[in-house]
Amino acid sequence: MKTLLDKDALHSGVASMAQQIESAYKGQQLTIVGVLTGSVVLMADLIRLIQLPMRVGVIQASSYRGATTERGDLVINSELMIDISARDVLLVDDIFDTGHTLTRVIEKMQEFGPSSIRSAVLLQKQGRVEVDYSPDFTAFNIPDEFVVGYGLDYEDMYRNLPFLAALEQADIERHAAMPTNHE
Ligand code: IMP
Ligand code: MG
Repeated sequence: MKTLLDKDALHSGVASMAQQIESAYKGQQLTIVGVLTGSVVLMADLIRLIQLPMRVGVIQASSYRGATTERGDLVINSELMIDISARDVLLVDDIFDTGHTLTRVIEKMQEFGPSSIRSAVLLQKQGRVEVDYSPDFTAFNIPDEFVVGYGLDYEDMYRNLPFLAALEQADIERHAAMPTNHE
């Protein structure tokens, strides 16, 4: 795998995004909602860096896709979510790629009547957007490569890597050859 962002780079990007969020919500109470599962690592770091009173919740969005496959059907599960009505909500996700996931999740959350919804993502992929929306806070812009680590997965693996890496063809072949990943 080719490392794109090491631990220190990730930390400074996330810390500076936390600063921007703090200034934007100064004097307010925040409700932060993380999109499962990709946002878990970012959430853990981000919520400890933002010095504001906050409520923390999650929402689940899942679509089947691999490194080379396109987005599958998106399923959004808001059953675990905390009450967001009349709250200032910051939605947190790992990556803004085509933008369909984040905009669909925002649409779903609007049904619960928040006062405001803004969004923060770790990564935005260059030249991929297909929607008329862009996240309010972005820690890093990256080239159009499939990346894993710091919460991002390939077939639900590699989320635990403490760095961000681009998956190469050899990694995909090695992954497919792992005994538990046979069809
Ligand atoms: P979008 O709907 O195209 O914006 O895709 C967003 C979702 O696809 C993210 O929440 C990720 O779960 C997944 N995704 C997109 N690009 C990558 C990637 O490079 N690595 C891992 N997951 C990705
Ligand atoms: Mg994913």
